[in-house]
Amino acid sequence: MIKKGIILAGGHGTRMSPLTKAVNKQLLPIYDKPLIYYPLSILMLSKIRDILIIVNKGQLNQYKKLLQNGKNLGLKINFIEQNYPKGLPDAFILGEKFIGKDNVALILGDNFFYGQNLSEKLLESKKLKNGAKVFLHKVSKPELYGVARINNKNKIIGIKEKPKKYYSDYAITGLYYFDNKVIKYAKSLKPSRRNEIEITDLLKKYLSNKKLSAEIIGRGGAWLDTGSIEDFYKTSNFVSSIENRQGFKIACLEEISFNNNWIKKNDILNSIKFYGNCDYSKYLKNLLSR
Ligand code: TTP
Repeated sequence: MIKKGIILAGGHGTRMSPLTKAVNKQLLPIYDKPLIYYPLSILMLSKIRDILIIVNKGQLNQYKKLLQNGKNLGLKINFIEQNYPKGLPDAFILGEKFIGKDNVALILGDNFFYGQNLSEKLLESKKLKNGAKVFLHKVSKPELYGVARINNKNKIIGIKEKPKKYYSDYAITGLYYFDNKVIKYAKSLKPSRRNEIEITDLLKKYLSNKKLSAEIIGRGGAWLDTGSIEDFYKTSNFVSSIENRQGFKIACLEEISFNNNWIKKNDILNSIKFYGNCDYSKYLKNLLSR
């Protein structure tokens, strides 16, 4: 059972400059809350409470202002700074002490997941004991992503990074589960031509040992990656449409924590004080009267 999760929330955010020159991408708004709330909510829906957030140099104070040490959300949040973006598997090198002897989940700070049965899939996936598991989602432009080819039993039989020729239309999303070997494997990776260690190379280590499995997010689910300015606004619009239609918020951290019985009504009152007079606080007030 995986009890620890890492959110990789550093990066240059080059594609979104100048927005990201002074503020880290994950602190920018997706509709009514900072982007970091969405991947954090995914770990919380997985009932993972022990969390490491990797941030880029100079942004630690901003993150702490927003999330503190997580106690108000029923979490234990640790932070580590990454000096520069060395690549996604660096999460396991920087996080070695945090991971210890355990298995671990990784979610990229700019990935958005939503959909029916998602919580069930998350809870199922965190049961991983050996090997690694990735979440796949069908996309119309597979050439932009790392993709996986699967057989008729949903087992991964091959992976390729941004294939020029058609290989598969299942993109490998930014949500992964690993056994403890991930630390050793990450340390053994050599930087690629763009001078980063690559998650595809890490996954290939599991694949060659026949230890890589897949969970598929079907067409009723959404996976959006908010790396470009266009995707950022599309994701904002998506959240706005769902929230205004249903009256439920996506990624209200206090709501998830309260439903998990990690915090009490009094903690929600403290959050309302912390946020001040805003729509998010109004939503929290409504939760108290439910
Ligand atoms: P990327 O999309 O590769 O990078 P980025 O967000 O910095 O954007 P750009 O390409 O426009 O410069 O990263 C995916 C996520 O992982 C993103 O949330 C940043 C984070 N990340 C790190 O925290 N450290 C790293 O070393 C890398 C490569 C990414």
